[in-house]
Amino acid sequence: MTTQTPARPQLIDLHPPSADMHRLVRDGLQREPRQLPAWFLYDSEGSRLFDQICQQPEYSLTRTEIALLESSAEEMAQAMGSGVIVEFGAGSARKVGPLLEAMRPSAYVALDISADHLRQATAALQNQHPWLPMLGICCDHSQLDALPDHPLLRGKRRVGFFPGSSLGNFTRSEAIALLRRFRQLLDGGPLLLGLDQPKTSALMEAAYNDAAGISAAFAHNLLHRLNNDLNADFKPDAFGYEAVWQEPENRVRMALISKRDQTVSVGGEAWAFHEGQPLVTEYSVKYSPEMARDLADEAGWRWCRRWHDPADELSLHWLEAAN
Ligand SMILES: C[S@@+](CC[C@H](N)C(=O)[O-])C[C@H]1O[C@@H](n2cnc3c(N)ncnc32)[C@H](O)[C@@H]1O
Repeated sequence: MTTQTPARPQLIDLHPPSADMHRLVRDGLQREPRQLPAWFLYDSEGSRLFDQICQQPEYSLTRTEIALLESSAEEMAQAMGSGVIVEFGAGSARKVGPLLEAMRPSAYVALDISADHLRQATAALQNQHPWLPMLGICCDHSQLDALPDHPLLRGKRRVGFFPGSSLGNFTRSEAIALLRRFRQLLDGGPLLLGLDQPKTSALMEAAYNDAAGISAAFAHNLLHRLNNDLNADFKPDAFGYEAVWQEPENRVRMALISKRDQTVSVGGEAWAFHEGQPLVTEYSVKYSPEMARDLADEAGWRWCRRWHDPADELSLHWLEAAN
């Protein structure tokens, strides 16, 4: 008897070209404080390091969200109905499995900025769910105006899935803009949105600065990436790393901190850093259930319900497009 290997999912590559990346870096280095878009953290090595972060004892978000999806998938699938699942920022796509089996969608479409990682993730998922047509789209979903015209999407109801509390990388106004954009990309379809809730500052800071140093390596990899992809000459050892809970903004700020006065060249342009100057690599805004409802409301979504873990530390919110 022969067993058939499932076909590899197709990948549509819409990654921003390096001229756009140069422009974003220049814009980010002119901000106060300096800050780059969080997606710059995710080249192949960054995606690999993020997967390691998810296994650290201090970072419970992934384990909690997977357990919640496993325990509530049947109920969630009832809310989801039929159609195509469109996952934003899918990463290793390790969370969607229970939803695929409970909902049996007509197709699975994964969006992510990290092309090679997305290729591997969809290939691995295809092996686990050989019956399911799949498509990967490498893109910056915060800039996408429409999903590509593709047979797997054409005429199909779209059900969005955005786990991992990745919305927390955006400031409040950016998060509202992103949720509005997702509404447009989903063409009237609903959205299952995973958001982590605030905890003590000690727990929050440890989650993003683990004892094994993986979060620090993840942030430093951004500098290696800029050196490799954008002809920069950062010396990663000349920057420290910190994760600080900022109470008024309900967020953790992750930053590389210049250890001394130094000048760095990016694509031939010189940038001076003074000792102690931060380069913000990402924020992680935490949302209480009330904050999540308000946010959804402002972004044109009708909040319908949420599922949460036993300790009520993380929620999967069910949103439908408001009329
Ligand atoms: C925090 S990780 C979460 C991964 C996975 N969804 C999870 O819950 O474990 C964020 C993921 O979103 C991707 N990503 C970040 N910013 C993005 C953007 N602007 N457009 C598309 N993908 C993005 C990253 O490559 C990464 O895989």
